[in-house]
Amino acid sequence: MAALVPLFVTTFALLLAAAAADPDLLQDVCVADLNSGINVNGFTCKSVANISAEDFSFGGLAKPGLTNNTFGSLVTAANVQKIPGLNTLGVSLSRIDYAPGGLNPPHTHPRATEIAFVLEGELDVGFITTTNVLISKSIKKGEIFVFPKGLVHFQKNNGKVPAAVIVAFNSQLPGTQSIATTLFAATPPVPDNVLTKAFQVGTKEVEKIKSRFAPKK
Ligand SMILES: *[C@@H]1O[C@H](CO)[C@@H](O)[C@H](O)[C@H]1NC(C)=O
Ligand SMILES: *[C@@H]1O[C@H](CO)[C@@H](O)[C@H](O)[C@H]1NC(C)=O
Repeated sequence: MAALVPLFVTTFALLLAAAAADPDLLQDVCVADLNSGINVNGFTCKSVANISAEDFSFGGLAKPGLTNNTFGSLVTAANVQKIPGLNTLGVSLSRIDYAPGGLNPPHTHPRATEIAFVLEGELDVGFITTTNVLISKSIKKGEIFVFPKGLVHFQKNNGKVPAAVIVAFNSQLPGTQSIATTLFAATPPVPDNVLTKAFQVGTKEVEKIKSRFAPKK
């Protein structure tokens, strides 16, 4: 009996792990019909007669993304919106490129854990736990770092050369909330009196940050 206890614990842990990712699939494939007007949890399936290898393929991560923007970084997603065949499969990838000094600013993925593999260069990366502990490390080409589901995290290229990573998610569409953009560039805007009290600063400071994050027209 005692020998069975670890087995029960392991099985229970696996069940919990399985329940923590996207829901499981109920058929071989359910290639997303991205143009269907019907809203379900995920996307409706195309007719199997109409699916092809193209639905399971994407070339968009082959080349570095352009990093000549404010943050000096670019995320190129390879999720269900680019690869319809990923619908119901619970996985996706992104490529992230960083100029020297580039930052992928603090953000969270509400629906997925992320595992990053460094293709080129070096990055200072970290996540913050719900008890406000920063778990951080410098990682270089060939190394891996994990960002647990839902926790705020970032990557910074403090090196002198460009860097790039491939990241995997246990969701077909992990979703991203970039903290600064979420709070300072929402539509309609988050009221100034919420942000002044939350950040313990004045309206001027809040307005200044809001102006920096104003959606480009
Ligand atoms: C397959 O695709 C064609 C062209 O897009 C469409 O006309 C046809 O209705 C589709 N067939 C099914 C079974 O969905
Ligand atoms: C970034 O570089 C590309 C190609 O060199 C150029 O077309 C684009 O306008 C640049 N973007 C910005 C924001 O400077």
